[in-house]
Amino acid sequence: MALHPSESLPASNASPASPSSVPPPVTAASAGAGRANATAAPFPADFLWGTATAAYQIEGAASEDGRTPSVWDVFSKTPGKVFEGHTGDVACDHYHRYKEDVGLLAELGVKSYRFSVSWTRVLPDGTGKVNPKGLDFYDRLVDELLRAGIVPMCTLFHWDFPQALQDRGGFLQRDVADWFADYTTVVARRLGDRVPWWVTQNEPQAFIGNALLNGVFAPGLKLPYREYLTAAHNQMRAHGKQVDALRAAATAAKIGYVLATQVQRPATEDPADIEAAREAIFSVYDKNPWNNAWWICPVLEGRYPESGLRLFGDDMPDFPASDFDQIKRPIDYLGLNMYSAGTWRQGKDGRPERVVSPPGYPRGTLDWLQIVPSTLYWGSRYFWERYKLPIGITEHGLATRDQVFLDGKVHDPKRIDVMHRYLLGLARAVQEGVPVVGYWAWSLLDNFEWAEGYKDRFGLVYVDYATQRRIPKDSFSWYREVIATGGRSLLGPTAVAWDNVTG
Ligand code: NOJ
Repeated sequence: MALHPSESLPASNASPASPSSVPPPVTAASAGAGRANATAAPFPADFLWGTATAAYQIEGAASEDGRTPSVWDVFSKTPGKVFEGHTGDVACDHYHRYKEDVGLLAELGVKSYRFSVSWTRVLPDGTGKVNPKGLDFYDRLVDELLRAGIVPMCTLFHWDFPQALQDRGGFLQRDVADWFADYTTVVARRLGDRVPWWVTQNEPQAFIGNALLNGVFAPGLKLPYREYLTAAHNQMRAHGKQVDALRAAATAAKIGYVLATQVQRPATEDPADIEAAREAIFSVYDKNPWNNAWWICPVLEGRYPESGLRLFGDDMPDFPASDFDQIKRPIDYLGLNMYSAGTWRQGKDGRPERVVSPPGYPRGTLDWLQIVPSTLYWGSRYFWERYKLPIGITEHGLATRDQVFLDGKVHDPKRIDVMHRYLLGLARAVQEGVPVVGYWAWSLLDNFEWAEGYKDRFGLVYVDYATQRRIPKDSFSWYREVIATGGRSLLGPTAVAWDNVTG
């Protein structure tokens, strides 16, 4: 199926680089792959090697110093919603141990750290009166990072919506956009002089789709489509107002919006398959929230994707056309959280056709986490070609069920292998000219994995939740070497050629 005419590129953006305008892949020989002493680092010197976390997943101190409940506090305490009734009440106790955790970041040698702010720590009622103790915590955290030479990236909203605002109608209210803007102003006024990188919102597919349509994330609603689409629309209006608030309060801010990127990759590098995956990555094929176009077209193109409008039909809510001016505010980079990818080829009828993975295909311990090493390559490339915005890999990682071994260490060879393969894919994108500003590994610490509780572990550092002891895993040392060498260590003897490790 050809692209619907309205799904061609927005006029304001340059036309996409056609596949032929992208230089051919770097070969093992030209990149120095296969030689341990390769001279050229595959990533630029100013590349932001980092790790990412989120407030509710690590902070704990849930009712301390004036913090009030978010929807996740309420949801996690509702029987049956989170694995074995786990909550974020204590989590990794980062609120009290942030200095130790910044020490770990310094030991790891990261250039940047992505954290999020807990809205209800800062504004206990969701709006209005500021809680100085809450703001002070982030002030101390930012200063500690700067002392360690680490560039802060602040995510303003990572799912912990104030329960007080949920009780006032939440995302169904148009006022939610102003609530977001006011909260953003408060945080940006306090941290904007020291935080260069900002994220307005993290993964709308999750905090709107999984939360308000599928009912599996807080607050656990299953709204009819029309209301779900209203919530999504207001969420994007809120993003736009946050951008304006940031521009006003933090003039040097580099502002991004982060997608739960549903990467689609071609089954082969045949141009027809590359086009099939390109169409798939920017289309809405069904009514579930797991696509990119619904969440990014309004924000970057000022319109809803035709493929989605056709699907939702009469369920589309009414709104003034001028809303798109508020939603589509210029941003500085696109944040892509990327973990996995679907596979597509051109079918016999010329239309994109999904290719099912063979039985036994490798995964992490979360079922959705299929290991597709070329995810970062195709994801970065397709989004760059379409939107011409610098890309930040704001999350990537692997869920495992690590344990402390008899030798007292935490061996996680699978995480190392997966990060290695994915980073080679990212190196290929960089070598081909995609402007990737950084890579934030998810996550620094094992933490509260939302509805899965503490069962699955994403950390480079193991957390013994009973004692709060932190044990850097083998992947921690491995990633430290990657950072210290600008990625040269990725080109060791196992990386015989880009293609056969990134497939
Ligand atoms: C995306 C989310 O932003 C993060 O909170 C979550 O823990 C990871 N993916 C892993 O599922």
